[in-house]
Amino acid sequence: MSDKKLNIEKELLSYLPEKDELIGNLVSSMEYSLTAGGKRVRPMLVMEFAKLCGGSEEAAMPFACAIEMIHTYSLIHDDLPCMDNDDLRRGKPTNHKVYGEACALLAGSGLLTLAFEAASSERAVSLNSTEKCLAAVRVLSEAAGAVGMLGGQIIDLESEGKSVDIDHLKIMDAKKTGALIIAAAKLGCISAGASKEQIDAAVSYAENIGLAFQIVDDMLDITSSTEELGKPVGSDSENEKSTYAALLGLDECRKISEELTENAVKALEVFENDTETLKKFAYYLLRREN
Ligand code: IPE
Ligand code: IPE
Ligand code: MG
Ligand code: MG
Ligand code: MG
Repeated sequence: MSDKKLNIEKELLSYLPEKDELIGNLVSSMEYSLTAGGKRVRPMLVMEFAKLCGGSEEAAMPFACAIEMIHTYSLIHDDLPCMDNDDLRRGKPTNHKVYGEACALLAGSGLLTLAFEAASSERAVSLNSTEKCLAAVRVLSEAAGAVGMLGGQIIDLESEGKSVDIDHLKIMDAKKTGALIIAAAKLGCISAGASKEQIDAAVSYAENIGLAFQIVDDMLDITSSTEELGKPVGSDSENEKSTYAALLGLDECRKISEELTENAVKALEVFENDTETLKKFAYYLLRREN
C-alpha cells in the first residue's frame, strides 16, 4: 500500500509546471498542498478498480492523479475563511495561512485545471485512448461541478445553523464527498474498459463507502484529536454544521457506517477477480483514525 502511495505522490509532482520567477509562488503553493500528505484514498480506488477490471495501474495513473488534484483543490477552498475557516490541514498550516487567501484561491483553481491537463495529456491518451480520456474528462467535470462536489459544498454551507433532516444530509454528503469517490471508481473502470455490470457494481461500492466516509469524517471531528487528525477537531460544531453525527449521535452513526461498509463489500460479489484489497480498503476506511 505505501509503495503505491509513494508512486502516486511522485507522479503527481510530474504534472506541476516549472517554478519560474514569474509564477513560482503559485506553483509552490500548489505543490505545498499536493505534497502535504493525505491518505490518497481516491487515486488508490482508481488503481484498484482498474486492476480488478483487467486494466493496468500504469494506464490508470493519469486519471488517479487527476482525481487527487481535484480533491486537493477542494480541500484548499474548503479551508478558506469564507468556507470552513480552518488553519490546519494534513498536519500542516492550511494553504491560505502560508500563501495568503488570494494565492490559495489561485492554487486551488490551478489544481482543478491541472487535473484536466493530466486526464487529457498525451501520456494519458497513449496509455488509454482518446475515447477513454474523453470519458474520463466527462466523469471528472460532472463529479467536480455544480451537480457534484460543488453542489454538496453549497448545501453544506447553506445548512449551517439549520435543522435539516436525514434525507437532506444524505443528498449533501452524496454530492460533497460521494461524487469524487464514485468518480474515482468509474475512472478505474474507464481505464480498464470495464463492462456495464462491472461499472454498476463499482458505483454501488463507491456510493456506500462514500457516504460512510463522510459520516466517519463527521464522527472524527468529535472523537479524535487535532494531532491525530491533522486538522482541527470541533470545527463542525464551531461552524454549526449539519452532520449525521450532530443529528443522530455517535452510536447511530457507527451503526449506519458499518451497514454501508457491508453493503459496499456485498456489491463486489459480481467480480470474478480477487476483491480482497477493496474489501480490506472499505474496512480500513471505516476504522480509520484520521
Ligand atoms: C477529507 O478527505 C474531506 C472529506 C471529503 C471528508 P480525506 O479524509 O480523504 O482527506 P486527505 O486527502 O486524507 O487529507
Ligand atoms: C469537505 O467536507 C468535503 C469537501 C468537498 C472538501 P468537510 O468540510 O467535512 O471536510 P474536512 O473535515 O474539512 O476535511
Ligand atoms: Mg466543509
Ligand atoms: Mg472542512
Ligand atoms: Mg469534516
